[in-house]
Amino acid sequence: MPSVPRLEISHIAKSFGGRSVVDDVSLSILPGQVTCLLGPSGCGKSTTLRMIAGIEGPDAGTIRVDGRVICDDGHATPPEKRPIGLMFQDFALFPHLSVARNVAFGMKGSKTAQRAAVVDLLAKVGMGRHIDRYPHELSGGEQQRVALARALAPRPRVMLMDEPFSGLDDRLRDEIRDQTLDVLKAEGTAVLLVTHEPGEAMRMADEIALMRDGRIVQRGAPYNIYNTPVDRQAAAFFSDINVIEGTVRGALTDTPFGQFLAPGVPDGTRVQICIRPQHLKIDFDRAGRGPLPTPAEGTAARGIVQRARFMGSESLVEFRMDHDGTILKAQIPSVFLPRPGTPLWIMIRRDRCFVFPVAA
Ligand SMILES: Nc1ncnc2c1ncn2[C@@H]1O[C@H](COP(=O)(O)OP(=O)(O)O)[C@@H](O)[C@H]1O
Ligand SMILES: [Mg+2]
Repeated sequence: MPSVPRLEISHIAKSFGGRSVVDDVSLSILPGQVTCLLGPSGCGKSTTLRMIAGIEGPDAGTIRVDGRVICDDGHATPPEKRPIGLMFQDFALFPHLSVARNVAFGMKGSKTAQRAAVVDLLAKVGMGRHIDRYPHELSGGEQQRVALARALAPRPRVMLMDEPFSGLDDRLRDEIRDQTLDVLKAEGTAVLLVTHEPGEAMRMADEIALMRDGRIVQRGAPYNIYNTPVDRQAAAFFSDINVIEGTVRGALTDTPFGQFLAPGVPDGTRVQICIRPQHLKIDFDRAGRGPLPTPAEGTAARGIVQRARFMGSESLVEFRMDHDGTILKAQIPSVFLPRPGTPLWIMIRRDRCFVFPVAA
């Protein structure tokens, strides 16, 4: 039996001064699930979160937690009455309160019960040893864990997180992300995490909601969002994208890399064939000739290395293509670091191409 979404928002909208900032956004999140609201800065992510928290009132739409309306046309539960926890980047612990009292802040019940709950929560986030310390005695990562324990203290059904990890350095961030997820999943909390970093979203999310100009343009598991983007912009949000242009004739597009299928696309339509840098293959120049065409990789085309960068696990190579002077970027194993000026042949993994009609 499918369970009731823990958080469900339907058709919410918000304008500021006549400018639409959030436009008809709907989402639902099951208990223990993490949805990442991913998009560039300014696309309306934080405003969406603030409406769910009740800090901002939507112009339209309904918000439900466990099926109960907390906000619609005629009604808005005040923020402090919503079963919702918040974690933001600039979470502030109370500097004059110990870790224990920070976590207990706002808790109800007897002192003994509170202490037991605090001990339990701090153990969950791996901060049991620091219960009697003060915030200034903790590292950034430790403060973050205390903030998580504090946000969990009222046992919220929904946790809203707005770029909560951006203040942490890389290594620490990965560790805290994983730990935070484990804790939230174990609690059955529905999590809506806002981020502008695709890597963070793919690492954290069960589902990504890709947002652009106030609208959700695509929703799905990270694998699907990455591998079946709805348009070129969606593809390009996750990595550099190479674009090869062509015109459709008889459901096929001729390119220097051979023919590509464009089923259902009318003749004469311009299309862009998009491919990520890691899906280009390179081969050596054999006195001006390249490898023979294959079904999977099609025809090779020649380019001259413009620059090559060693990145540790891979090399990033830019080619200027002989046929039209365009630049293509390839990400190849770092055992290869070709010199600028080297002619090489490039093939593209046809099963990894996205073909999009160019908007008229
Ligand atoms: N209270 C407000 N008044 C006017 N404009 C606002 C307000 N809050 C946000 N905005 C505008 O709405 C847009 C989206 O903001 P925000 O939701 O913070 O984006 P994001 O979190 O995706 O970076 C921005 O252009 C921002 O300037
Ligand atoms: Mg924001």
